[in-house]
Amino acid sequence: MSSSATAALAGQRILLCVGGGIAAYKSLELVRRLRDAGATVQVAMTAGAQQFVTPLSFQALSAHPTRTTLWDGAAEQAMGHLELARWADRVVVAPATADLLARLAHGLADDLVTTLCLASEAPLAVAPAMNHRMWRHPATEANVAVLRARGVQVIGPEDGPLAENESGPGRLSEPDAIVAALAATGAGSGLLQGLKVVISAGPTYEDLDPVRYLGNRSSGKMGFAVAAAAARQGAQVVLVSGPVQLQAPPGVRRVDVRSAAQMRQAVADALPADIYIGAAAVADYTARSYSPNKIKKTGTGQTLALDLVRTPDILAEVAQRTDAGLRLVVGFAAETDNVADYARQKLTAKRLDLIVANRVGVPGCGFESDTNAMTAYWRTGEREFAAGPKTALADGLVALIAERLQA
Ligand code: C5P
Repeated sequence: MSSSATAALAGQRILLCVGGGIAAYKSLELVRRLRDAGATVQVAMTAGAQQFVTPLSFQALSAHPTRTTLWDGAAEQAMGHLELARWADRVVVAPATADLLARLAHGLADDLVTTLCLASEAPLAVAPAMNHRMWRHPATEANVAVLRARGVQVIGPEDGPLAENESGPGRLSEPDAIVAALAATGAGSGLLQGLKVVISAGPTYEDLDPVRYLGNRSSGKMGFAVAAAAARQGAQVVLVSGPVQLQAPPGVRRVDVRSAAQMRQAVADALPADIYIGAAAVADYTARSYSPNKIKKTGTGQTLALDLVRTPDILAEVAQRTDAGLRLVVGFAAETDNVADYARQKLTAKRLDLIVANRVGVPGCGFESDTNAMTAYWRTGEREFAAGPKTALADGLVALIAERLQA
């Protein structure tokens, strides 16, 4: 057991849900490994899982009664299923069969395991295991995509020999690999535990006609890195994202939008929250009116004037709200020059608690880059973050946010 897994999972309360596949036998070993890493494990099994492994085996290894049904009066008396769902710091489904993934994707609650998953607010991880044709079926692919977009961590499956002499992607990841994947996403020290964070990221696209839009070069990488960092620190994260080519980080609920108007609505819908971080590059202008027909070149005209109107400033609007429970509002300022001056002006003008400024238009910084250098400003101070990967800067920013909350 690696010491980093031990550090990340020690003291965590893990609800392990076992689905009905032959790989269920590996979950016995998983219980062991999770406990070796210092986690407390309780196990719930589907009816199918009990065809492969007995509840008693899990009970012996977890040192807790194994839950097998919603309709067990004695077990409910000891700890109700909703209580068990609340108890968990994280929920892990292993093996996750095609059927279980489908039921989770659709929010069904027709047995104990799916009810627990639906009732728990803890981050959910699934480790799929099934025949390779079932894994590659468009229905399963769509279900996995839905789960990923909802912030579910998908661990594996691995490629290799399967049951019935078949081979392909569908093997349950090895227990050590599952533990390592869980440790990698839960490695924070809980700086934002119990807090809700809403983050906007990426560009917005303002449609002009059915084929053209106004956009910008934001990749969303910084906002997504901040979302991942906040989730690692235990926050409940809603990530409102413009059009980007990125996957939602584990443990993050993602809401996709296109335009500034949609982003404003999605952010409003996601509130109340403790922290709002506006990392999106929201278009400043949108078409006064959308042309339902493609705008044509005219025969004689050499120029075209677009009639644009200002978009609402989402960040400034959020910062003014007194009814959204916000304790900290954070903005970003991408500037080509006079970075500090413009950033401080925005801090005041938009009534922010913190603004993170970075220089754009230089190599290795800003849009599309994996690295960045930035400075955070608040009313009474500032902190410089040396150039580095956006993931590392995001960790630093989240630590600063936690500090400012205490200030
Ligand atoms: O004013 P400027 O666009 O430079 O400000 C950048 C900050 O304001 C960013 O945090 C960005 O997400 C936010 N913003 C916004 N809505 C707009 C424009 C900017 O939330 N319409």
